Amino acid sequence: MMGPKRITLAMTGASGAQYGLRLLDCLVQEEREVHFLISKAAQLVLATETDVLLPPKPQAMQQFLTEYTGAAAGQIRVYGKEDWMSSVASGSGAPSAMVVVPCSTGTLSAIATGACNSLIERAADVVLKERRQLIIVPREAPYSSIHLENMLKLSNMGAVILPASPGFYHQPQSIDFRKICCRVGASIIKRVGMNKTLIATLLLSIVFSSGCASVRTLDAAQAGAPVIYSGTRLDWYSLQGGCYPVERFGAQAPKYAALDLPFSLLLDTLLLPWALAVELGVGLTVQGGR
Ligand SMILES: Cc1cc2nc3c(=O)[nH]c(=O)nc-3n(C[C@H](O)[C@H](O)[C@H](O)COP(=O)(O)O)c2cc1C
Repeated sequence: MMGPKRITLAMTGASGAQYGLRLLDCLVQEEREVHFLISKAAQLVLATETDVLLPPKPQAMQQFLTEYTGAAAGQIRVYGKEDWMSSVASGSGAPSAMVVVPCSTGTLSAIATGACNSLIERAADVVLKERRQLIIVPREAPYSSIHLENMLKLSNMGAVILPASPGFYHQPQSIDFRKICCRVGASIIKRVGMNKTLIATLLLSIVFSSGCASVRTLDAAQAGAPVIYSGTRLDWYSLQGGCYPVERFGAQAPKYAALDLPFSLLLDTLLLPWALAVELGVGLTVQGGR
């Protein structure tokens, strides 16, 4: 296992509750001990944006989240807003990393000024004073000068400001919610130092949800497009700098063609009997090909 064994995860009342839930899932899979904090507003946002209805009391919430994520007993610990005796409230017991995701501008401001009016604010304050790792995932649009100043202040103190703004390098053709969460989740876990397999899984899910070349060409509506090893050929064509993938293959190449190539090769090989049948015209209809 890389990175800290114990992590504080705080969810506050900004839009993007799924980011917090997804991260919780990943941390549980990674067998981390998660110290979970959630504000009242975050519970409201969670109920608005997902079908997850958390019980209000910390103990019941802990039980619920343990079952929801399939965590081991005691792996997730939930604390209340004023649970000042909890480990996250003191420098000696607090985990060495804390993520606030999503982070409302209200909590952002409270952390930047050291308000400590809730356990979330206190836990962040502890992480900062102890020079540990604090990752803030703010969400608001647009940002005012106040928000930007607060972010700068925290960044200057060593916190990582990691806005939930996924890149679109993979030329998405539609909005895939899981992929957006994976992108932001991968950025967070890269920083808290996770197991390489999990990062690879997340990255692969990005690649695949951006469209494996084989899957793309299967769906191609282009007469005369190749059928045999079509995905592999599309990736290869793209890597050679080919300019007309849609005209030749009926589909755009994936953004990460080099990464996709081995997977397309595998999938194309599995689909070879089917592709040969299409080539030989044995009664299978496809959009592309002959
Ligand atoms: C459905 C909903 C969505 C919200 N979205 C945001 C948001 O994206 N960013 C933000 O800063 N505040 C947002 N708010 C407002 C915060 O929840 C509010 O300022 C609250 O006081 C934050 O409290 P907390 O920081 O203790 O969670 C939203 C509120 C609701 C009910």
